[in-house]
Amino acid sequence: MQRIAVLTSGGDSPGMNAAIRAVVRKAIYHGLEVIGIKRGYSGFIEADMWPMDLSSVGDIIHRGGTILRTARSEEFKTSEGRKKAYLNVQRFGIQGLVVVGGDGSFRGAEIFNSEYNLPVIGVPGTIDNDITGTEYTIGFETATNTVLDAINKIRDTATSHERTFILEVMGRESGCIALMAGLAGGAESILIPELRYSIDEVCEKLIRGYKRGKLHSIIIVAEGAGRGLDIGKQISEKTGLETKVTILGHLQRGGSPTAFDRNLASRMGSKAVEALMEGYRKHMVGIVADKIVISPLDAAFKGKRTIDLEIYNLANILSI
Ligand code: F6P
Repeated sequence: MQRIAVLTSGGDSPGMNAAIRAVVRKAIYHGLEVIGIKRGYSGFIEADMWPMDLSSVGDIIHRGGTILRTARSEEFKTSEGRKKAYLNVQRFGIQGLVVVGGDGSFRGAEIFNSEYNLPVIGVPGTIDNDITGTEYTIGFETATNTVLDAINKIRDTATSHERTFILEVMGRESGCIALMAGLAGGAESILIPELRYSIDEVCEKLIRGYKRGKLHSIIIVAEGAGRGLDIGKQISEKTGLETKVTILGHLQRGGSPTAFDRNLASRMGSKAVEALMEGYRKHMVGIVADKIVISPLDAAFKGKRTIDLEIYNLANILSI
């Protein structure tokens, strides 16, 4: 193998730049050439790619976003689109591809490999932490800390005004960000898509808390479990309490990656290059029990990631 390519795809996540840096530097260290593909699969189709050298990834390890930029390509979902991409594989002499992204991006890589047999290695990069085959995805830890920072700030004003706050957080169909930020932030209730919840129980807990002298309450809602505004309205109607709703939105995707995410990205990016060199053809890297592991790419989207019930129950007990 002489020349590989790297792209970032789907929603960006803090740490993607550290992953690109690791892929480029590890590959060059082993004497490989690296092509950087811009705007994910869109750039793959449109030949928006250029050779990367050691300095093209200098001064990026601490930056959020992705220097390669990213996109969600509809065209790559079509066989015509993938055929155009394959013509670029031939034109640029690409012998292996590293895809940094989420499960949708891995699905695209899997189909492309099945059709054209180009070796592909997935590096899980998404704030959602919704990929099986890895305990953590790049960006999840940073996003969780961003949410925690928001909880801390909202707590200040919530206490001053003795108010009930609803915080809607991202995660798609995953409640990981909500759960881990909620536990760390001492939220009264955490509503996640993986588990059924009852608004009546949420309201009863709120009332109990206020009767006991609580000065404020914070309820975290994962976007997959409902809209913050609806939940706020329902709680107001049932309890008569005024509710304030904050939707954190895309600020959860930005910011300088934490040390954990930088190190995870560096280890995963490096392992992806090793995997290509060792002949893996349709795989992903992941982290399990603090070891970087390699598993079949379809492991990422064939199973459904479950939530850690022990953590959920603990959050409930501690916020009694
Ligand atoms: O997958 C990452 C994510 O941020 C989800 O948490 C969220 O639902 C979605 O992307 C938002 O996508 P977009 O940036 O296209 O609005």
